[in-house]
Amino acid sequence: MALANRNLVTIDDLSNGEIESLFSLADDMHNAMEKQINLCRGKIMASLFFEPSTRTKLSFEAAMHRLGGSVISVVDVKATSLAKGESIADMARVVGSYADIIVVRHPWEGAARVIADYAGVPVINAGDGGHEHPTQTLCDLYALKKERRTLKGLRIALWGDLKHGRTVHSLTYALARFGAIIHFRSGPGLELPEYVKRKLETEYTGRLERYENISNIIKDSRFPIDAIYITPGSPHQLANIPDVSMQIELDKGVEALYVTRLQMERLSGKADEGLKKEEYPVVDKKLLKGKEFAETLVLHPLPRVDELARDIDADPRSMYFKQAALGVPVRMALIALLLGAKKAPAVEEDRSFIRKTEYTPCHYVYGIKCPNRNCVSHYEKESIKPEFTIVCRRPLILRCVYCEHEVSPPFIASSEWHEGKLINKQYHSASSHWARKIKAENLIVFSSEKDAEVRGFKPSHYAKKRYRISKKEVEL
Ligand code: NCD
Repeated sequence: MALANRNLVTIDDLSNGEIESLFSLADDMHNAMEKQINLCRGKIMASLFFEPSTRTKLSFEAAMHRLGGSVISVVDVKATSLAKGESIADMARVVGSYADIIVVRHPWEGAARVIADYAGVPVINAGDGGHEHPTQTLCDLYALKKERRTLKGLRIALWGDLKHGRTVHSLTYALARFGAIIHFRSGPGLELPEYVKRKLETEYTGRLERYENISNIIKDSRFPIDAIYITPGSPHQLANIPDVSMQIELDKGVEALYVTRLQMERLSGKADEGLKKEEYPVVDKKLLKGKEFAETLVLHPLPRVDELARDIDADPRSMYFKQAALGVPVRMALIALLLGAKKAPAVEEDRSFIRKTEYTPCHYVYGIKCPNRNCVSHYEKESIKPEFTIVCRRPLILRCVYCEHEVSPPFIASSEWHEGKLINKQYHSASSHWARKIKAENLIVFSSEKDAEVRGFKPSHYAKKRYRISKKEVEL
């Protein structure tokens, strides 16, 4: 399996087979830690942490030392030329000429992608704002697999701050790809972001049941959830799951609880106004007494605050310290593979959960900005421009290529206007049927009427109205 020279920016950069073979190498590392000392001798890892970190940073650095390599590091933006206004793209070019591999944590969502685009050496995302944290997911899956052998059919609840928790986002995608059944149990106002839900609905083979559709089934449940993602053995079974089966599914409880803390540092004024911190769900001895949790493993990426009571630390179901310890062999395997110091044993891909990956890029974007204030596209204006892919035609939805947040432009036109007839240089409401009619490769999007008009487009008959799109017309 060829992993040499690749990046790990999102968990979807690795196929299921590649993750499995990385785990088998992690087993070898775990079983003979001291014997790996010559694997990466002479190689340098740059460890760039622009946000606090204990586990991720130290386990990466420990991993590189165990492989015999060296580490150069930065822990503070203020100690780098970023503080003088240098772009992260320029920083990436320079650091890429000093080191053989870069591990980066940055508060901007999409920062790791920009660094990977410019560094010229493998880049590992160690957390980009509230977006993704793929190596934590590798540790989480590895810990789960060690206890439960397979992830297929595993019932797991993701618990806490599902909105801002980057570990949750990466883990959700991976669990969906491995065929797990995911119960989402968020704190109030902290549900999964819309873009994560849409990815689950459109890219993976299972089915997401949103709260709106299951509220009457789950209202009496002791364990309230906001949504459930189901991947039965074969995708066509999904169409027929009646409410009764859903009730049975819920009654089975979960085999693992993945607890996360409230991401205080990511709460953003208006969007998180009115958040009831006192209602944040807590996992403690009392909760675990319930018979539905008799065999439930408790995981947490750590650090914990108040959401995970200390009274369960000695409980055999508590896995979180073991999970953190596994970070070293997993990251040793990852570094060795990306540096080409090891080849991963080939593992056959399970074709039943292959995800859709290809979306058409939107080539003509005028005035549209990513709605996520924390997206790297708002900060790195010199080195990148806003870029989007078309994830849904009707209603029209674009996805930012950096942070994956979604935007729905209000006006559209076709780039084919110039085919002889100037009269066709018209723009339309994006809610009109034109959103489907214009070929994706010709689609022009505008943020306002003015944006269209300064480019010589005139309003069509379909520009003035917002059209309602019936369920039947929705087209992904
Ligand atoms: C997580 C992170 O940084 O996102 N921690 C980690 O890497 N182990 C989770 C958190 O900070 O809550």
